[in-house]
Amino acid sequence: MHRYFLSICFLFIAINPTFAQQKPVLAAGSVTNTTIAGQSVRFVTDNAFGEVTVYSPSVIRLRLDKKQLAKDFSYAVIAQPQKTNVKISEDANELTLATDSVKTIIKKKPFSVAFFTVDGRLINQDEQGLQNSWVAEEVTAYKQLQQGERFVGLGEKTGNLDRRGNGYTNWNYDAYGYSTGQDPLYSSIPFYIGIHNNLNYGIFLDNTYQTDFNFGASNNRFSSFSAQGGELNYYFIYHTHLADVVKSYTNLTGRMKMPPLWSLGYQQNRYSYYPETEVMRIAQTLREKKIPADGITLDIHYMDQYKLFTWDRQRFQNPLAMNKKLKEMGFRTTVIVDPGIKVEKGYEAFEDGVKQNIFVKYTDSSNFTAQVWPGWCHFPDFTSPLGRNWWHEKIKFFANTGVDGIWNDMNEIASWGQKMPSNIIFNYDGALASHKQAHNVYGMQMARASFEGMTQATNKRQFNLTRAGYAGLQRYTAIWTGDNRSEEDHMLLGVRLMNSLGLSGVAFTGMDIGGFTGNPSVSLYARWIQIGAFNPYFRNHAAVNSKSSEPWTYGEEVTEISRNFINLRYRLLPYLYSTFNEATQNGMPVVRSLALENAHEAKVFDGKFQNQFMFGQAFLVAPFESTKEYGAVFFPKGTWYSLYDDAAQLGNTEKIFRLSVQQLPVFVRGGSIVPMQSLVQTTAEKPTDTLVLHIYKGDQNNSFTYYEDDGETYNYEKGDYYKRLISYDATQRKIIFNKVEGNFKSKFNLLKLVFHGFDDKDNIQASGSLKDDFVSLIAPISRFDPQGTANPTIGCKVKSLTIASKVSQFEIKY
Ligand code: NOJ
Repeated sequence: MHRYFLSICFLFIAINPTFAQQKPVLAAGSVTNTTIAGQSVRFVTDNAFGEVTVYSPSVIRLRLDKKQLAKDFSYAVIAQPQKTNVKISEDANELTLATDSVKTIIKKKPFSVAFFTVDGRLINQDEQGLQNSWVAEEVTAYKQLQQGERFVGLGEKTGNLDRRGNGYTNWNYDAYGYSTGQDPLYSSIPFYIGIHNNLNYGIFLDNTYQTDFNFGASNNRFSSFSAQGGELNYYFIYHTHLADVVKSYTNLTGRMKMPPLWSLGYQQNRYSYYPETEVMRIAQTLREKKIPADGITLDIHYMDQYKLFTWDRQRFQNPLAMNKKLKEMGFRTTVIVDPGIKVEKGYEAFEDGVKQNIFVKYTDSSNFTAQVWPGWCHFPDFTSPLGRNWWHEKIKFFANTGVDGIWNDMNEIASWGQKMPSNIIFNYDGALASHKQAHNVYGMQMARASFEGMTQATNKRQFNLTRAGYAGLQRYTAIWTGDNRSEEDHMLLGVRLMNSLGLSGVAFTGMDIGGFTGNPSVSLYARWIQIGAFNPYFRNHAAVNSKSSEPWTYGEEVTEISRNFINLRYRLLPYLYSTFNEATQNGMPVVRSLALENAHEAKVFDGKFQNQFMFGQAFLVAPFESTKEYGAVFFPKGTWYSLYDDAAQLGNTEKIFRLSVQQLPVFVRGGSIVPMQSLVQTTAEKPTDTLVLHIYKGDQNNSFTYYEDDGETYNYEKGDYYKRLISYDATQRKIIFNKVEGNFKSKFNLLKLVFHGFDDKDNIQASGSLKDDFVSLIAPISRFDPQGTANPTIGCKVKSLTIASKVSQFEIKY
């Protein structure tokens, strides 16, 4: 009977063509038809429909689906194809698209893609034999592994800088107290950079379903990327320099806007500061102890029973008045918001949300309900314009109560049980999508709605922070790396996470300094806050029921160390602000993995050195566990100066340093121009009218764009900025100050130039016409001193020169 049944089944499969087609793996097959349309070629294969489009000389997009390609839509990509000079040619076997930068060859039998440089070097190609193919709905592209190929990026991913040998999943996840190898974490950025044979390229898989990346894990044949549904839709980016790959990627997915200046100051945080008297105590103590700070952050306990858009009026009688008082003291308030709206009769946000029909739903149109802090909740559909508009209105509540920053939490969506069903329907901007497709983009759309709502309410720049996100999140929000642990290797992992996010287009990043779960040792806290001074977003945090995260709770010495490094951060604000401006212009991150500039230097990927990073273009930061007595530092090419005593160090070397709890190893690159200001306690306080430009002697050309604006409005978009290009020309031995651009009046009247690494033989002179504008002649001053309090040291080789900043153009020769 059984055998008889099986034979019937086989017979059925053999004669039924639909069944026969259901191979375990369905490959794209061969190209059967092509249609050229401008910079695009549409094609059909045995089993799929596709399109290849030239976006720019360096960016090529490929789409492939089992069915006709759907309407083009992306939450990530905002760029349109640029008109590009492209030669398209075709014969029976191949289709070629050649730009000035990349030659794309599509083999027809069977379909496969390869990318070459114009001089014929292979950059990347499909694995021959393993085609782009489907297993059920999961589509995968297999790429031939190249000799010595490394992989970096992919956003917030644990592990080493070089991801070779590992696999990763993108599925936004509430990873409380994650381990240093855990995957996935909170956000998904399906963009990585491959590096081999002096070549580097980027691949951005724009697909919001769960995506999986394999960089030669469990195989020695291919790297691959897959999506659990939807199209294979990726952008291939090639440039000679890796940094340009990031620039092109951020041209596709957008760049951040200027952040409010206050958000670059130190932010004091914990879960949670309440009631109001406690918040004020923290603010006052920071001022009394002369620890500069700009932000206080309120976690979930400010709400009435965790209900969104409420204040607990027992704990905070008059939030508006409190926030006003804080503002007068130079503090801005950031509050946490979660997406879950409590299901409770009479609660306005719930009643209104139901009435406006903005919650995500099951297939039978009932609202999805899950448990989170307030109890059972519904969740606004941020993928719907209706949902976002609703949130825009609601979030004004915070602007109206004097809040300046929004911290979007739990937006993976996190809920107790962590098993959100697949059959929830999202609007997906009109396309309708299941939870599977919308999950990874939900958090970013929540952050977007908060950003847009607060912008509408205040007409000013916003500080917006998110935990979950998707590619392109940088347009709306900063991101932090969630619930880390108070452990030494977590501090270093946090650095790598930020470095990786930076390589993946996100410039404004931070981590919980001191660690979220557990209690850091005194030395760990000290080291972490030193590193934190070089984080784009500088905030500490600690879980409920753990030790407080204020510096003074770690004793006198740590208070002093924290103060020194926070002071340094504040004195560096002109440099940092200019660096953020660079991020808005070209997508360069603030913390930069050394791979960004030295992609083909093996040492950069060495476990010993992989945590090192550049803070902007000038500072090399070498983070080590606080328990280590010695640490090895790798210096890329150039000359490097110790931040603390100007000791010079030649590049292309490694050196072991004795470590101390007081000093984080930080070095300045020769040729750097570092603008600094006098110490202030908050960005609300005006610095003195002298901008100090530290100039480090170098043997390589360099340039720095100094940038200033009002720090809070979007007037800079209309030309109200002050910008000056300063170039270090090592060959001509001169420093050139270009004319100032923009309509903004600088807050500084004087420029003081401080020369590091120059000696008496370097006859430093300003260009002739400048003579009358010298405010003081070159004079010896103290070496670099973070607090700026030491007296000038006679005989030291550091020299300075002060110039009226109204001088529009001048040169310094040496
Ligand atoms: C989870 C967040 O990651 C954490 O930072 C926050 O303190 C808690 N939620 C409570 O809101």
